[in-house]
Amino acid sequence: MESNNNTILITGGGSGIGQALAHRLHDLGNHVIIAGRRLDALARAAEGRSRITAIQVDLDDATSIEAFAHRLTIDHPTLNVLINNAGIMRFEALEHRRDLADAEATVTTNLLGPIRLTNALVDHLLTQPSASIVNVTSGLAFVPLVVSPTYNASKAAIHSYTVSLREALKGRIDVIEVIPPQVKTGLTPGQEQREGVPLGDFADDVVMQLCSEPTRPEITVQYSQYARRAEADGRFDEVFAMINGG
Ligand SMILES: NC(=O)c1ccc[n+]([C@@H]2O[C@H](COP(=O)([O-])OP(=O)(O)OC[C@H]3O[C@@H](n4cnc5c(N)ncnc54)[C@H](OP(=O)(O)O)[C@@H]3O)[C@@H](O)[C@H]2O)c1
Repeated sequence: MESNNNTILITGGGSGIGQALAHRLHDLGNHVIIAGRRLDALARAAEGRSRITAIQVDLDDATSIEAFAHRLTIDHPTLNVLINNAGIMRFEALEHRRDLADAEATVTTNLLGPIRLTNALVDHLLTQPSASIVNVTSGLAFVPLVVSPTYNASKAAIHSYTVSLREALKGRIDVIEVIPPQVKTGLTPGQEQREGVPLGDFADDVVMQLCSEPTRPEITVQYSQYARRAEADGRFDEVFAMINGG
């Protein structure tokens, strides 16, 4: 992806990884549109940066996604990069029968959200001279954390979906997967205080790789490479035990 002069939509751009990417990509000379449910968070993320536009959308709602995408292509016809970053992570206990609200919400936001938004924007992106779709998955797509089973599964599904999308759009839209390790954000309660890669370091590395020539199809950062390659390297059991405190 070119490092500047893009019009970039980042979902979940009001906090964490999305916000950090939005700031860096804006400062490189791109117009960045950030989208999420909380307008106050989006407004804070856009503060002081004239070419960040904040738009409220709930990506759990298929009708809202269609209306949002339609409006976006009219108001921002140069839109050429979609970063599917919004996501939720819930902890779930599998030991007994349970209420499935968290599992269902996770599939809706993390799996159906990017599928629906990509579908709503793909025809527009195909009209752009240079376009990219960036899907944010997780190291947990490759080696699961037992306490977040549906989250891991949603990210594994998006990984697989991304492989198909890359092949289907080959030569027309670059399809890139960003595979974060544990990063210090508010994704789960207390995560900013737990062990993890500092958000600024992570975002610097991702933006550097995104703007490299040619762009890598998969972007791993520090420990996520370890999880990504665990099975291929014959270290799945070892990494699984490490991640799950075994
Ligand atoms: N931090 C990590 O360790 C880590 C590791 C691997 C992968 N990831 C992935 O990185 C992405 C960003 O997470 P993060 O760590 O930056 O956490 P975060 O700060 O909680 O960011 C998640 C963003 O998604 C948005 N979002 C959630 N549900 C939404 C919905 N229904 N509609 C629209 N926006 C929605 C949130 O905004 P609103 O609440 O305002 O809607 C929020 O800005 C996620 O996909 C996550 O799975 C993170």
